[in-house]
Amino acid sequence: MAPGVDRVCRVWHPELPIVTDRLALRLFTMNDLADVWAYMRLPEVGRHMLWAARDQDESREALSRMVAENGLEKDGDYLTLAVTREGAVIGHVELGLVSTEHEQGEIGYVFHPAHQGRGFATEATRVMLRLGFAEMSMHRIVGRCSARNLPSANLMTRLGMRKEAHFLDCRKVNGEWREELIFAMLRREWSTEHR
Ligand SMILES: CC(C)(COP(=O)(O)OP(=O)(O)OC[C@H]1O[C@@H](n2cnc3c(N)ncnc32)[C@H](O)[C@@H]1OP(=O)(O)O)[C@@H](O)C(=O)NCCC(=O)NCCS
Repeated sequence: MAPGVDRVCRVWHPELPIVTDRLALRLFTMNDLADVWAYMRLPEVGRHMLWAARDQDESREALSRMVAENGLEKDGDYLTLAVTREGAVIGHVELGLVSTEHEQGEIGYVFHPAHQGRGFATEATRVMLRLGFAEMSMHRIVGRCSARNLPSANLMTRLGMRKEAHFLDCRKVNGEWREELIFAMLRREWSTEHR
């Protein structure tokens, strides 16, 4: 896919694949279902998300949404990239366009437990911060997680994001109130050490 902004419909697409020291990031295709279901089916992966463990049909639906999330055009759009290692999908990362007017974005990430604890999420999410700040000229990028999701809060801290808020009982997920943390980074805080 050609990188840059489509002159007719103004959709922004990054140049892909993006290759880091240990990973390659690319768009999803429906051929990735087996790899995606392998982590979406696990209760420990869905536990802190807004969804629980997904069966194969639910994973297929989720994958078809991720396949469509291939560029950013308007508020509410997401770019979702498959994170691959040695050809297999080990997780995904996303960058959302929250507000064009206010230059705000949002990151997200999900990794297979077999590939956690080695810094892969840090390496891949750092790419999404770079895309947001350097290519989309975003002013502020946020990330949110359940207050119980320590690995996610640690990841955002590792990326250099600041904890901005701790909301109590701000959502009801599966009948239970959830506390939520908001982390953020401004473009001027995006220092060389975090790129
Ligand atoms: C949130 C999530 C992506 C974090 O994954 P993670 O593996 O902990 O994060 P990283 O890949 O950055 O790895 C960090 C760990 O690897 C270690 N590590 C090893 N090599 C590293 C390196 N080169 N760079 C950074 N960390 C490294 C770190 O010390 C850290 O270990 P610790 O957890 O013992 O402190 C993962 O827990 C997940 O997918 N959870 C399920 C879905 C989810 O909750 N998503 C977020 C919703 S808000």
